[in-house]
Amino acid sequence: MTQLETVVAIASDLTAALSAEERYRRLLEALRRVIPFDAAALHRLEGEVLVPIASTGLSADAMGRRFLIKEQPRLEVICRSSEPVLFPSDCALPDPFDGLLAEDSGAFKRIHACLGCPLWVRDELIGALTADAAEPHRFDHIPKDFLKAVGALAAAEMHTTHLIEALEHSAQRHGLIAKDLMRDVQLRQGTDLIGTTLAMERLRRDIELVARSDYTVLILGETGTGKELVARAVHALSGRSAEPMLYVNCAALPENLIESELFGHVRGAFTGATADRAGKFEVASGGTLFLDEIGDLPLSAQPKLLRAIQYGEIQRVGSDKVIKADARIIAATNRDLEQEVREGRFRADLFHRLNVFPLRVPPLRERPDDIPLLAGYFCDLARRGLGLGPVRLEPTAVAALKRY
Ligand SMILES: Nc1ncnc2c1ncn2[C@@H]1O[C@H](COP(=O)(O)OP(=O)(O)OP(=O)(O)O)[C@@H](O)[C@H]1O
Ligand SMILES: [Mg+2]
Repeated sequence: MTQLETVVAIASDLTAALSAEERYRRLLEALRRVIPFDAAALHRLEGEVLVPIASTGLSADAMGRRFLIKEQPRLEVICRSSEPVLFPSDCALPDPFDGLLAEDSGAFKRIHACLGCPLWVRDELIGALTADAAEPHRFDHIPKDFLKAVGALAAAEMHTTHLIEALEHSAQRHGLIAKDLMRDVQLRQGTDLIGTTLAMERLRRDIELVARSDYTVLILGETGTGKELVARAVHALSGRSAEPMLYVNCAALPENLIESELFGHVRGAFTGATADRAGKFEVASGGTLFLDEIGDLPLSAQPKLLRAIQYGEIQRVGSDKVIKADARIIAATNRDLEQEVREGRFRADLFHRLNVFPLRVPPLRERPDDIPLLAGYFCDLARRGLGLGPVRLEPTAVAALKRY
């Protein structure tokens, strides 16, 4: 392949529907035909650090490295330059890939050929391309103009990929939100908390009070007391109501999937993880995360959740990158969490973190006067659902319900 053909091949990949990985792999492959390197790597700039995102010819652990630019004189020269840099073969500066060549780990200690292209998009440095060859004069004949063109294309490639990833991420976030909103709509049939007894009035007041803060809320109460309704009410009355409330049922997922549901995962983290996926915690950032049946959360997932709540920091399963996520937490359970703590099924530190503002939802037996009201409410729901005319509750039926 000639240099021109290579440039054309890379340019036409720019618009092809390829995964990020495939895109970068093809870029390095095309370059190898005209820049006879033994090893090359493409790095993305993240703050002060160059993170390798694709490489060829380097040992497996190279991809795990993070190169702090100010500790790597060669990378520093590349990043400060506006154009490609060809280092003299006897250059005394240490090579960041010294020891990382797959074939011969000592090769880059000796005199060798080395070049680097800073990747600029307009005035912003977004990464760097580096190439090394053991034979010192391997790169001598490569015209600088060609390297410039390659640098511009690699930068465009990385920029495009980054934009696509950001779009996919946002589309995925919206997909997840849409799913939870559908659930909201299905449940919308009953979002009002019915009840006029003192116990319910007190609960309503507490809900209003805590809703305005960002405190974690722990909703306690027996089965069927309406804990989910309370959670929705807290979110709806909070400053976050314009953002969605995401729902996780901690009892519904097997132990090995709950972490991924909460924190997301990266591709390849486990069998079946075919693509990067954001977790509910991340998606709920800015909004609320409702952790239903928190008492059923497996012990193994509890430390991670504690950390996420304490520091607002999460890591997707299989990734070491820390992501900030600001989700307001509401948790609910029908279990006696203190008892669970005593019996070693729930971590005490997590319990205390969640128990900042407990809301106890009283069972109907403590507020029998709400029974006729609720019965009427449910009658009406059923009537509308079935498309019937007016339905009336016989006094004897109400009396029977009260006795129950
Ligand atoms: N005070 C109430 N006003 C209106 N509807 C209510 C009230 N209490 C309960 N409900 C209705 O009863 C049903 C059960 O409530 P919900 O699912 O919120 O219970 P829960 O406390 O989450 O129970 P579990 O612990 O079993 O999950 C829902 O359909 C809910 O709409
Ligand atoms: Mg429930």
